[in-house]
Amino acid sequence: MPSRSSLFADFSIVVLAAGKGTRLKSALAKVLHRAGGRTLVEHVVRACLPLGAREILVVVGHQAEAVTGCVTPFGARAVLQQPQNGTGHALRVARAKLGKTKYALVLPGDAPLVRTETLEGLARAHLQNGAAATVLTAVTEEPAGYGRIVRKGDQSVAAIVEEKAASPEQKEIREINSSLYAFTLKELWPCLDALRPENAHRELYLTDAVAQLNERGQRVLAEVAPEAQQVLGCNTRAELAEVDRIFRMRKCRELMEAGVTIFLPETAWIDPEVRIGPDTVIEPGVQLLGSTRIGANCHIHTGSVLTNMMLADGVTVREHCVMIDSRIREGAVVGPFSRLRPGADIGPNAQVGNFVEVKKSRLAAGAKAQHLSYLGDALIGAGTNIGAGTITCNYDGVKKNRTTIGAQVFIGSNTALVAPVRVGDRAYVAAGSTITENVPADGLGIARGKQANKPGWAAARRREMTPKSGTNRKRVSRKGAKGMARRKG
Ligand code: UD1
Ligand code: CA
Repeated sequence: MPSRSSLFADFSIVVLAAGKGTRLKSALAKVLHRAGGRTLVEHVVRACLPLGAREILVVVGHQAEAVTGCVTPFGARAVLQQPQNGTGHALRVARAKLGKTKYALVLPGDAPLVRTETLEGLARAHLQNGAAATVLTAVTEEPAGYGRIVRKGDQSVAAIVEEKAASPEQKEIREINSSLYAFTLKELWPCLDALRPENAHRELYLTDAVAQLNERGQRVLAEVAPEAQQVLGCNTRAELAEVDRIFRMRKCRELMEAGVTIFLPETAWIDPEVRIGPDTVIEPGVQLLGSTRIGANCHIHTGSVLTNMMLADGVTVREHCVMIDSRIREGAVVGPFSRLRPGADIGPNAQVGNFVEVKKSRLAAGAKAQHLSYLGDALIGAGTNIGAGTITCNYDGVKKNRTTIGAQVFIGSNTALVAPVRVGDRAYVAAGSTITENVPADGLGIARGKQANKPGWAAARRREMTPKSGTNRKRVSRKGAKGMARRKG
């Protein structure tokens, strides 16, 4: 058996990705829709990369620029099909770019679940059997919408009949065309030239090349895909959701095999680049997105959404946290209901609690902000306690200013720190203070109105407001009572 690289030395790959995707009813071209955290066309190109084919050509048309942008980072080359006259026309357009290549694998840009091994198997089968074309097929209980494979007595393929042209008997056929093919190009080209737009869409169908090849005495064979799932197309929103579900389950399975516990994996939404260490537990309904990295022995509770996060080992994220572009260090506990915005850095064993928002701020080891705070552009020293309702007033209407709080500091509840401002190590800030000047190390900062007590005031007010008993009583209106209270207070 030839190695993969020698097998593909004579193969180029053509991905058909110029179509609009009318059935999605979308302003976005079909292959730019996302499933499993990537665009459809990116999945297809990625599956091709390990094959080491001579070249990957992507036929683009609808939103050509955006589609090109998705594939060129992987070394693929775009070919423009304008207008889009069907799958057969798309391949004709690619012809000039294929030069002297002997063989081509042709793939639709909207069937993203195909695996590299399946593509390799298709190419191998094609070369071993010496056919002019090999069609990857699948056997399914729901063939509606797909082209049907019409086999001859010798099991070779006589034709592919599109749904709209199929007779009632042909509609009963369960073997469908995946739109993935291997072609021997010198046999294919004359057939493409012979295609006629005599069909429901007035397009040139690549599928008609199969009957053409037969007419020319060429053999077309079928290779059945190992799983029908792999050839699912995304023609409708429902199919898109199903393909997304399958990608997410694949990812969960990989992670579980690597030692991650995922409860109700069908509710986990984990992007392909996410990495998670062993013995980490992911509860139901968690989203882990982008380049998120999670260490070992972490616990991510239900309802949390992490995007491009970096978590060390032993981190706990309690329920319903939203966090992006930030890091959490070993042993820290965040949540429930915490929000980390870009540039938050939560130190080892630090704690961030409910309704605390942290942006571009570092909490050093063991620091705590447990309730109802906004910490922006702040440095918070080790072991410091941020009281409930503390706000760093980092924005002066023009620019952002820094708050620097030392180690072992105690910030009382409901403190406003008007930045730029510094609080020295081991200092206290009294609850309810609005701090506009630096607080020295080991000192107390207190900045609030002084309290005055008025003994008996409340009792007197109640007496005034109670109507006198007797016939001639005067009602005190609500407004009157308030006015009285204000005058006396
Ligand atoms: C096609 C096949 C059908 C097969 C199904 C499998 C044809 C005529 N039919 O139908 O037998 O069962 O795929 O999913 O080929 N494209 C272009 N240029 C065009 C038209 C399409 O690049 O002018 C691209 C599309 O972007 C898409 C791919 O070709 O990625 C397939 O086109 P689509 O319209 O989805 O074909 P189906 O109707 O699904
Ligand atoms: Ca399709």
